[in-house]
Amino acid sequence: MEQRLQKIIAAAGHCSRREAERLIEAGRVSVNGQVASLGDRCDPQAAVVAIDGKTLPRQEKLCYLLMNKPVGVVTTSKDPDGRRTVIDLLSEVPVRVFSVGRLDYNTSGLLLLTNDGDLANRLAHPSHEVDKTYLVRIRGKLRREDRQRLERGVELEDGITSPALIRHVRSKGSHTWFEMTIHEGRNRQVRRMCEALGYDVSRLSRVGYAFLRLDDLPVGHYRELSETELRSLKNEVAPK
Ligand code: URA
Repeated sequence: MEQRLQKIIAAAGHCSRREAERLIEAGRVSVNGQVASLGDRCDPQAAVVAIDGKTLPRQEKLCYLLMNKPVGVVTTSKDPDGRRTVIDLLSEVPVRVFSVGRLDYNTSGLLLLTNDGDLANRLAHPSHEVDKTYLVRIRGKLRREDRQRLERGVELEDGITSPALIRHVRSKGSHTWFEMTIHEGRNRQVRRMCEALGYDVSRLSRVGYAFLRLDDLPVGHYRELSETELRSLKNEVAPK
């Protein structure tokens, strides 16, 4: 199926759509050996697209996976310390995918994996404010004033966070479980927000990403997104 050239270049992970448009306008992009113009379309699985004479890898079938990541695996595709990666868990996926954002080694839950660089970049871009919901277990009780601080935003070393949405789930024995929804994606953000208030996070799992939920997908398993889910996800981050 034919697609706009800037979309093909962005999906290959080369640069953003806007930068790709600039490259096309500057006459630096060719399709099957002919200099391309803005507005040109081609079939990414058949055409030879080159930038400054260097051929882009031909687009593989686009793949969109939702995984329930276990604790004890890293989200990078290679780990210098030789730890297991989420890619090691993807048997029978014939294309190379990467994770959209990351979850810590000790965090489990919903992780999207794709080879669509354009969509991955847009989902990860802070301007789209995609909601991410975490189930958090802390030792002790969450005090009312601390819940309010999480809901107002917490001062971290990299600045104050946006307000979180908190929903109490349950207290059991010496632990409390609650859901926290944030739309930023800073490194270890949930743990750092809780630690800043003196709480020790003893379990963390992402249970929601935008409207997507883990439902009953077992830990360590993955499934493809349905066409409806994919369409809705693309809509969430469509250029306005
Ligand atoms: N916040 C964290 O602290 N860890 C994660 O893995 C994701 C969000």
